[in-house]
Amino acid sequence: MKEEVKTQVPVLNAGEEAAKNNAAEADTSVAARLARGEHVALIEVEHLTKKFGELTVLDDITDRVEQGEKVAIIGPSGSGKSTFLRCLNVLEDPTGGAVYFEGANLVDRKVDINLHRRRMGMVFQQFNLFNNMNVLKNITLAPVHIGLHDLHKTKAKNFFRKIANLFRGKEKKRELVPVQTNAKQIKAAAKENAMRLLTRIGLADKANVYPSTLSGGQRQRIAIVRALAMNPKVMLFDEPTSALDPEMVGEVLELIKELADEGMTMVIVTHEMGFAREVATRVLFMDGGKIQEQGTPQQIFGAPQNERLKDFLSKVL
Ligand SMILES: Nc1ncnc2c1ncn2[C@@H]1O[C@H](COP(=O)(O)OP(=O)(O)OP(=O)(O)O)[C@@H](O)[C@H]1O
Ligand SMILES: [Mg+2]
Repeated sequence: MKEEVKTQVPVLNAGEEAAKNNAAEADTSVAARLARGEHVALIEVEHLTKKFGELTVLDDITDRVEQGEKVAIIGPSGSGKSTFLRCLNVLEDPTGGAVYFEGANLVDRKVDINLHRRRMGMVFQQFNLFNNMNVLKNITLAPVHIGLHDLHKTKAKNFFRKIANLFRGKEKKRELVPVQTNAKQIKAAAKENAMRLLTRIGLADKANVYPSTLSGGQRQRIAIVRALAMNPKVMLFDEPTSALDPEMVGEVLELIKELADEGMTMVIVTHEMGFAREVATRVLFMDGGKIQEQGTPQQIFGAPQNERLKDFLSKVL
């Protein structure tokens, strides 16, 4: 009897160990993959839920956006497309779930959301330029603000280190953070970058005018350039052309297409099915707060499976 028990114990333990290992391997959550040092996409949402009062607008969405992907989001009005996009950079606070950007959970209160949000450019339907500032100021505002903020932070850190070093022994003195720039250089660099971007879209001569004097298409292209000035890792577009006169749509889509061709990762909510078909690497169809179907443009437009998607396409195509 005794012998039997002895031999059984290690067998059981090994089985348990294997089960545990299997469970660990099966855990494909972002947290588990991060802990194992495995690949995590540029953006990952996990069980993302958003409610407005009783209304569930996003219903347990899990999806990921890999670097270089161009994701088009389509779906009927009120299906949660804008809310989804706004949850990606936490302009809208999710009710539940997680939004990881470069491996950091933006929903986690301990994460510096502003630091990460800088790297996500957002362009809305309504060109959200500041009308009381000229074009150049519109584009340089955020980069200058952030550049100066970082500079002051570094200087303050050095100041306190210097004082603390007075009381530290020779061995324990901490090095100061090198400061290689000044306010003037930060402003000059932001201006130079803004002019480069304006030149690229053929609007360098508009640098000193106010947005009210520009066409809708020009304003929207400047809104895009303004987002680009922050050197984003991903661009989020929410129906960037739907407020434009038809003759302005082409120039804005052309610019977005150029960015896509250059490898920019983007998520774009659009009603322009032709554009989605041409530019997107993946199309998501949203309805009722869920991603009902997703696939390549060929699959979504050529061979839709979901009844609601078929119905939607029959109305918009
Ligand atoms: N701040 C809010 N408060 C309450 N309800 C909201 C709020 N924002 C959005 N909703 C509701 O959430 C649902 C989804 O809205 P959302 O704007 O995400 O839809 P959409 O797919 O972008 O639609 P559209 O194609 O018309 O832009 C709608 O029913 C809307 O009324
Ligand atoms: Mg919307």
